[in-house]
Amino acid sequence: MNFWQNLPKPFFVLAPMEDVTDFVFREVMANNAKPDVLFTEFASADGLMSDGKNRVIRKLLYSKKQRPIVAQIWSDNPNHLYNSTKLVNELGFDGVDINMGCPDKGVIKKGAGSALIKNFALAKQIIEEVKRGAGGTAVSVKTRLGFDKVITNEWISFLLEQKIDAISIHGRIATKMSKLPADWDEIKKSVTFRDKICPNTLIIGNGDVKSYAQGLQYAKDYKVDGIMIGRGIFANPWFFENPQQTHNKDDYIQMLLEHTKLFVKTWDQKNFNIMKKFFKMYIRDFDGADLLRQKLMQCTSYEEVEKILIK
Ligand SMILES: Cc1cc2nc3c(=O)[nH]c(=O)nc-3n(C[C@H](O)[C@H](O)[C@H](O)COP(=O)(O)O)c2cc1C
Repeated sequence: MNFWQNLPKPFFVLAPMEDVTDFVFREVMANNAKPDVLFTEFASADGLMSDGKNRVIRKLLYSKKQRPIVAQIWSDNPNHLYNSTKLVNELGFDGVDINMGCPDKGVIKKGAGSALIKNFALAKQIIEEVKRGAGGTAVSVKTRLGFDKVITNEWISFLLEQKIDAISIHGRIATKMSKLPADWDEIKKSVTFRDKICPNTLIIGNGDVKSYAQGLQYAKDYKVDGIMIGRGIFANPWFFENPQQTHNKDDYIQMLLEHTKLFVKTWDQKNFNIMKKFFKMYIRDFDGADLLRQKLMQCTSYEEVEKILIK
């Protein structure tokens, strides 16, 4: 039985987010307020099959405490996806997820990500190859309601016919990016298709969920099996805590120190600037937060961050 079937209902997933859900962030989440499932950032299957493999494979670093964990991969090349899935399997991941939702221009231009919504034949071939590479490991797809118009009926029904283990549905079309609110009624519609076409496929709803309580309510109202949280984590790093508790300034500072220390230890070669986007997540909503953040923005090392935060 694949791991998705063993999860509580509804379950909560931290969404894959490029330059956010790296090894370090996932580790901090696993230590403090762990979701039921973690995803890696999306990793290029072409990159994993290239001479630059060592750079891309860092996205697939994980620890035991992050399990169950799903590796997300993307490409338009079925052969690269097949071989990358075999690699993901060797690395011991619980699942492999195919990105069929990314709206990035470069990704679309290659015919990958959300462009696959316009190419059912290639999407089918890709799913078949990933399933073949996966052996028994869980296979899922993360996608949207359509590319430039909502085609939930055709697209989600088509995905369900491929008999995959889970589908995460971001309730938007690709060309709208995040400008309009997510359409959860369309996500609910997908659940009715699922019940008819492939009852074993789990449906995970995604888009604009701002709190754990809202997630529970949405799971009830829209009948999804799980809720996926992306940007909500920036507003509350303890998003997945159940029951929810209040956290004070010291808790936030402790988490930021933990994050920064592990970031430098893990990625000494990575640009420290990437760390800076997290300062806003931890240092806000208290007296003096703005000034403190401004000072942190000048830092280039853990030691400097520590000096500012520990007085
Ligand atoms: C910074 C950032 C990076 C993202 N990177 C990925 C990615 O690598 N793969 C993916 O499938 N979606 C990616 N997404 C989309 C999210 O997984 C999610 O679908 C989207 O943010 C909507 O959920 P939300 O309203 O809870 O944020 C990214 C989103 C953000 C904000």
